[in-house]
Amino acid sequence: MRFAKVTERLSGLGSEKWAVHIEGKKRAALGEPMIFLSIGEPDAKPPTAILDVAEKQMRAGRTRYSEGRGEANARRALARLYSVQTGRAIHENQFIYLPGTQTALYAAMMTLVDVGDEVLMADPYYATYEGVIASAGGITVPVRVDPDHGFHLKAADLEKAITPKSRVLLMNTPSNPTGAVFTRAEIEKIGRLCEKHDLWIISDEVYATLTYGNTVFSSPFDVPELEKRTVVVSSISKSHAIPGFRAGWIAASEEFCDRCIPVTETMLFGSQAFLEDAMAFALDTHFPELDEMKRNYEARARALVAGLKASKKVSARMPEGGMFVMVDVRKTGLSGEAFATRLLEEEKVVTMPGESFGAGGSGHLRVALTVDEAQITEACRRIVSLAERVSFATSDLPAEKVRAIASSQMDSRHDLLNKLLDPE
Ligand SMILES: Cc1ncc(COP(=O)(O)O)c(C=O)c1O
Repeated sequence: MRFAKVTERLSGLGSEKWAVHIEGKKRAALGEPMIFLSIGEPDAKPPTAILDVAEKQMRAGRTRYSEGRGEANARRALARLYSVQTGRAIHENQFIYLPGTQTALYAAMMTLVDVGDEVLMADPYYATYEGVIASAGGITVPVRVDPDHGFHLKAADLEKAITPKSRVLLMNTPSNPTGAVFTRAEIEKIGRLCEKHDLWIISDEVYATLTYGNTVFSSPFDVPELEKRTVVVSSISKSHAIPGFRAGWIAASEEFCDRCIPVTETMLFGSQAFLEDAMAFALDTHFPELDEMKRNYEARARALVAGLKASKKVSARMPEGGMFVMVDVRKTGLSGEAFATRLLEEEKVVTMPGESFGAGGSGHLRVALTVDEAQITEACRRIVSLAERVSFATSDLPAEKVRAIASSQMDSRHDLLNKLLDPE
């Protein structure tokens, strides 16, 4: 049978990236005790009051077809949120309610990108971006960001990658996987480039509420001159630890929303009004438990950075935001993929290879901060143990000892290392 070309464009962009995670799950199902640091699924429970509103509204009959743009109460809650954030009056018609950031991103891309258009983005990037761009027939143009500069996108590097076919800059702040958060000054500089080359900005802000230390979140939507060319995609998946609600939105100009509505209605024909009610309630309410969730992420990130400090072979920087830390394994001489595979097999710790997020992630692991501090600290001990073992075997030893490793018939690396350290 014949299938549409899009299925070919998307093949290879799916489960391969998750191979280490899938193998970890398989082993866990067989009873192996694994530490999972691979998936950005919040471990905190969502505030129960949000669940109560969803249930109450569902029972009250909010189960009929909803408005295509989203229910007015949900869009009014969004308008209040964004008016406070931007300091300007943002109208409720500047929003479309959608089931999650991912759907919002897909709809935004379909609204802006034609076959052959180029979409620029910082590399490393979130694992689904290439697929979303390819769905629309667009061409991904990754712009490498330097791990040694905190993975921040430089305007000069972006400008070098712009061509007459460039149409959209897809940015993600705070970033998954890198934890980088764009400063207002960076956004203004990059925004001027987007104005000069007439680029749209799609800004994935699903981690907007999760920033650490002195880091302040800003969005291109906050900059008055950039509002009309910015399409924000976001949700309460991470901010309220409730990804299964699939409650998200687009924030953009009214003109963009008017153009996008036929795209979303073609896909969805509305959504679940009771979930929109729950989202409106969530956005209008302060939940102390979510402050605690954020403090926990920050404490886990600090524990991770501290847990790797003793090693000369692996290191991590404190993320500025988000739910992830990049662990730099370049000094071990292994790729992120090789390190993650061995970490799974030899230490029972499941991470994502940096390469799953583009070439810019090579030589790194992405670690999700979704387990408690004790497990993070234990995972660090195992990461350091593997790093010392592999680097010791390949780089720090005199040549004849490396040859001894290569020719050794011994199975256990521990035994071999002990022998090398103490030949008696
Ligand atoms: C950068 C980024 N964008 C979008 C999503 C999808 O979010 P949602 O649950 O709102 O669809 C994720 C989920 O992990 C993400 O990390």
